Amino acid sequence: MLAPDFHAAHLVAPDFEPWWRDAVTYQIYVSSFADANGDGIGDLPGVTARIPYLARLGVDALWLTPHYPSPGADGGYDISDHMSVHPDFGTLHDYDELLSVAHAAGLRVLIDIVPNHVSEQHPWFLEARAGGPGARERFHFRAPRDDGAPPNNWQSLFGGPAWTLDEASGLYYLHLFSPEQPDLNWSHPDVRAHFEQILRFWLDRGTDGVRVDVAAGLLKDPELRDNPGTYTPGLFGHGPEQVHTWDQEGVHDIYRSWNALLREYDHHPASVGEVCLADLSATARYCRPDELGSAFTIELLKTAWGAGEYARAIEGPLTTFSEVGAKPAWVLSNHDKSRMPTRFGDGHLGAARARAAALLLLALPGQAYLYAGDELGLPDADVPAHARRDPIFHRSAGERLGRDGVRVPMPWTAGEPHCGFSARPDAPLYLPQPEGWAAYAAQQQWEDVHSFLNLYAELLRIRKTSPLFGTGLASIAADGDVLTVHLRDSRGNAGRCVINMGDDAVTTPDAGRLLALSHFDVWAFEGLLFLPGPSAAWMIDP
Ligand code: NOJ
Ligand code: CA
Repeated sequence: MLAPDFHAAHLVAPDFEPWWRDAVTYQIYVSSFADANGDGIGDLPGVTARIPYLARLGVDALWLTPHYPSPGADGGYDISDHMSVHPDFGTLHDYDELLSVAHAAGLRVLIDIVPNHVSEQHPWFLEARAGGPGARERFHFRAPRDDGAPPNNWQSLFGGPAWTLDEASGLYYLHLFSPEQPDLNWSHPDVRAHFEQILRFWLDRGTDGVRVDVAAGLLKDPELRDNPGTYTPGLFGHGPEQVHTWDQEGVHDIYRSWNALLREYDHHPASVGEVCLADLSATARYCRPDELGSAFTIELLKTAWGAGEYARAIEGPLTTFSEVGAKPAWVLSNHDKSRMPTRFGDGHLGAARARAAALLLLALPGQAYLYAGDELGLPDADVPAHARRDPIFHRSAGERLGRDGVRVPMPWTAGEPHCGFSARPDAPLYLPQPEGWAAYAAQQQWEDVHSFLNLYAELLRIRKTSPLFGTGLASIAADGDVLTVHLRDSRGNAGRCVINMGDDAVTTPDAGRLLALSHFDVWAFEGLLFLPGPSAAWMIDP
């Protein structure tokens, strides 16, 4: 067993403790959360109606995936107007109402800012296509190579080349994602000014923070040189193979200017970057004190289940982020990745691991991000091919299934039409709910003390009141299948999260008191802690 201090991470004390530093944020994929007007698509009044649910669950904040007008080529990440609300989701008035109801319930609200690209229907791109003077400069338009091929070898993350020919001009334009999402040219002053205006527009209304999409991608190599390697879907975190597309030095200046802008607001808006880089130190640089508040820590999301692997995936970010004075923003699931119970092995095993993972995630110091449905133990849904929407599915001709299986409407109440997601029984749902979805319904889970939902609510309740879980200084130890996160606070209180990641039960010496357990068979008695495989416990020293 590694001595606890072997992996010790010493967090640098920040100059002030903003509300978000250890916050638990609940991600809402608006289309699939709750449909208030019965058209089959989730909407902002639907979210507002569920604020009491989120308050009862006990999260600190919610993050809305893009709520803006969008043709929907990439689930809302193709925005045509950044200062308005998608008519399917409601109106600006509905947004303000959501904000005020959330605030009254003690919840903060983060929105998604998508600065790397816009929709092909955005007025700027329409102007660029029409050849308006100076309009193409806001994007990356380039002449073909001599043989007519795209200007360089860059790949779209959704498949195929990152360039599409604009027939009218004979020029190619760049899109790191789908052709309907042209990349903006962040060296252009209009682009910088526009996004400052967008940030102010939402912060002035009282929005509590922003999640920044594709945060490391805004600037590209000025000469657009070929990358030494290519993007492949298996890659999780861009690295040297795409050195000319990601993580250009100048991008940090953008976040320095945003940091200054955010600091003008007294309510300490949060900012968290989707910084998807292979190199942890490069990721941490985005949350230096004068840049973003934090960056998603995707190490756990991409690590295979196993005590040694998880120990490294936790210790690395704790150390690396502390070197820049930041704490990690832990993520175990989101709208882009397979859900935990499925990823961890399906069936009982996947569910047991997902319950144990909840104890781990909520014990770690720093921010934690939950994705709507994690608290219900939802697995990935089967979505028939004809109903799939994800450009990844369509651009790969079905070879890659894409992300629709994790974006299926939430089950709220068993026995109601669409499990309570939409009031109208004949509403054509945004994506179809699979057979058996009612078994996960929130309402029924509240009534079952052993449910996923009550487990999450209990952990969040303890985390709120305990100075240790989610906040204390951590050191990590792995011993066989057992992973222990040791926690201590400045007053000398000590506790830990102990996870048996193996399939067989273990008994380990532990003189502490059992505070929370992932499985009803976990027990602590006369200095011993018994953990069935897999399961986890929160222990506190007397
Ligand atoms: C990351 C988002 O999480 C994903 O859903 C989206 O497709 C891409 N960025 C492009 O905006
Ligand atoms: Ca609706």
